[in-house]
Amino acid sequence: MSAAEEARLRQDARAVLSANDRDGYTVPTARLYPFQWNWDSAFVAMGFATWDYDRALTELERLVEGQWPDGMIPHIVFHRPSETYFPGPDVWGTGARIRAGGPATSGITQPPVFATALRFVWEAMPDATRRDRLQRVARLYRAALAWHRWWVGARDPLRTGLVGVLHTWETGSDNSPAWDAALSRVPTTTNTCIRRKDTGHVEAAMRPRDVDYQRYIHLVDTYRAAGWDPARQWAVAPFKVAEVQTTAILARATEDLAALSSALGNDTEAAELAGMRQRLCAGLQRQWRPGLGRFVSRDLVARRDIETATHAGFVPLLALDLDGAACAAATAVMARWLADVRLGLPTVPRSSPDFEPKRYWRGPVWAIINWLLILGLRRNACLDLAERLRADTLAAIERVGFAENFDPLTGEGGGAGSFSWTAAAYLVLSDNDARRDSF
Ligand code: GLC
Repeated sequence: MSAAEEARLRQDARAVLSANDRDGYTVPTARLYPFQWNWDSAFVAMGFATWDYDRALTELERLVEGQWPDGMIPHIVFHRPSETYFPGPDVWGTGARIRAGGPATSGITQPPVFATALRFVWEAMPDATRRDRLQRVARLYRAALAWHRWWVGARDPLRTGLVGVLHTWETGSDNSPAWDAALSRVPTTTNTCIRRKDTGHVEAAMRPRDVDYQRYIHLVDTYRAAGWDPARQWAVAPFKVAEVQTTAILARATEDLAALSSALGNDTEAAELAGMRQRLCAGLQRQWRPGLGRFVSRDLVARRDIETATHAGFVPLLALDLDGAACAAATAVMARWLADVRLGLPTVPRSSPDFEPKRYWRGPVWAIINWLLILGLRRNACLDLAERLRADTLAAIERVGFAENFDPLTGEGGGAGSFSWTAAAYLVLSDNDARRDSF
């Protein structure tokens, strides 16, 4: 693609973010996801930071409007009503726990990319801008710190070094086959009237199945009945997975938070953040399986490892410096998955019986997952593979636009279009600026 074409596409990417802007926060896409989503906004903030630092900070500030008094940042902030999404605020019933005067929110959380995004925005700013925005960044730093404390307190009460997720929506990979066994034990019963709206916007074959939705809502019912209290939820959760992708993102974000803390001239939390990171990294290391060449999550209800092959097994590269043998093993497996498809990395390998090239988290390629993998590969000096994933991501977008995800066999776009985090990924991954090396 010529430089002029790439520049035009960067303009288009900005236009997607601007069109999805709702007064300082960005919806993932217009009808399917009409509110502010947590980890989407972190990626989006990095996209905005390629041309508008203030808008990038505002994205994070608007998300923090939904932060709970206990530090949790919810997966959805319902700034204003919309009829095009289910389940809305009435189903979540979180009223008693949200901040007085704050917006309605869901009751679960999502992968904590926030502090990594905040550091990215900070590092993108010239010195003079940093001085001017210091107070805003410091406030966002405190919000991230409170959230990280919530994660390690509420979601790792036994201090294992791995954080647990209580709903598949918390992982960001809603219907990944990694959750099939754990989710199959969740009852399909619910008194909530399920009115799916997603299949009105996107082909049903690209979405989770009805029975999945019944279980998703059973989990919401259960936690609502527990008053959204973290300890009670932990005790009654029928779905509880110590998850390597979320833990890796948290470990990386903790490293980024520590870097920000010293950049802001504050070393009060340095020891706490170093300890937090060390424990998370040690927890991740224990989940490395040399024979599989991947990290594995753990089902805390069945007390079993989850060996299902998904992209999540490589996300720990984001936070860990692997030794030579582990790095070679992981990259060899990734290379095998890539050899089987036109476009990588598939979220499930083609050789797996669970592979479905168009169904959401059961095969399609996602730009933001590639982005995380690229960061991990660069960290571990696997530059060729990082470059392959970067090239695949940009080429996919250049061919079919800012789709939600991409079919790894045909390269076709899947899910909804004009998707914010795909646009943000394009902006950051096509940015030739030198700071690309650290991010
Ligand atoms: C879906 C995805 C999740 C994302 C959300 C909004 O639920 O699985 O990762 O945050 O949509 O884009």
